[in-house]
Amino acid sequence: MPGFELFGESERTSVSEVLDTGVLMRYGFDPMRNGHWKALELEKALARRMQTRHAHVVSSGTAALAVAMASAGVGAGDEVILPTFTFVASFEAVLALGAIPVLCDIDDTLTLDPEAVRKAITPATRVIMPVHMCGSMADLRALKAISDAHGLVLLEDACQAIGGSFEGKPLGSFGDVGCFSFDYVKTITCGEGGALITDSEEIYQRAQAYSDHGHDHIGSDRGAEGHPHLGFNYRISELNAAVGLAQLARLDDFLGIQEKHYSHLRTILENIPGITLRRVPEGGVENYSFLNFFLPGESTARKVHKALLEAGFDGVFYWYDNNWHYYRRWEHLRDLTSLSKLPETTKEHFLSRQATAYPDSDHWMGRTLSILIKLGWDQQELDRRAAILEDVLS
Ligand SMILES: Cc1ncc(COP(=O)(O)O)c(C=O)c1O
Repeated sequence: MPGFELFGESERTSVSEVLDTGVLMRYGFDPMRNGHWKALELEKALARRMQTRHAHVVSSGTAALAVAMASAGVGAGDEVILPTFTFVASFEAVLALGAIPVLCDIDDTLTLDPEAVRKAITPATRVIMPVHMCGSMADLRALKAISDAHGLVLLEDACQAIGGSFEGKPLGSFGDVGCFSFDYVKTITCGEGGALITDSEEIYQRAQAYSDHGHDHIGSDRGAEGHPHLGFNYRISELNAAVGLAQLARLDDFLGIQEKHYSHLRTILENIPGITLRRVPEGGVENYSFLNFFLPGESTARKVHKALLEAGFDGVFYWYDNNWHYYRRWEHLRDLTSLSKLPETTKEHFLSRQATAYPDSDHWMGRTLSILIKLGWDQQELDRRAAILEDVLS
């Protein structure tokens, strides 16, 4: 998956252009810039690639989630529905705004189960946040129908699925707002960075101000700019944006390589009895960053995971036992362990919406393995991996 694997000349040139000007900040310093506006160029290129009216780049995917929700008006006491299988960033961003994360079961798409979402909605719900984990997507058609029926914000976390699509639209562009991460291990990287995309002028205007202390960015004197509302600093630096701009130009090449490697290994899995593949909702196209499949049960999944690693097949994940991606190991969320005091109302509200277990999620995650698809594999490496899969799974 990671763009850092094919890091090269174009990234170096783009960063050098910034270093040559000495302007490392995305705003201001016009006379010194020598025409280089890397963050701005990245936003234009991203909006074009994702077919949205707007893109706004920020310092991380986590920041993108927080900025997107703040810009959609999410705040204290609002409930945000998110899946049990995600990254901790999802609930961190929600809690940072004083809102309440409500975990919800997943299905065989490995992301939000629309039926479970329907049941989780209360008068306090403001957002449905499908997280397109491991390269594939939620049933966005069903989730959009639910969010439209209840007047909710559909926020797509496409941090792990950039380049995939649903019903012909790039992932992230189907909902009201979509978020990407460009951290070091994503399909394309800025080192650290993230972005939100949207067709909403209001969300975009709020986001570009909120992520820069509330600056309205009107006029050419930064010190004289207005502050229509409170903000924070989630700015990306020009250096990070320069890397991202070069990487975005290579996204479709990376996706092509991922698809080739994914398809090779998928063919092997398709021919092994007892193995089933993650369901991709009708109309969906993966970004092929992971190959996700189900074993008949938890004990087989554990055994196969161990055997693959021992046979030298690295980059295969058993998320069920993972500290960062699955609810079972999030005791810090369950107990709301925080460095500073949280409002009592937040605690009470969160605890009242907590389930003790998510059996449907456990059913699917207990039997799921995910193979990370690397860009750097050559034919020999692909054949080696195919042979290990056949050997261990047959
Ligand atoms: C699904 C998901 N959402 C959000 C994030 C947060 O992105 P970042 O690391 O850029 O803050 C990640 C990062 O791993 C992620 O996987």
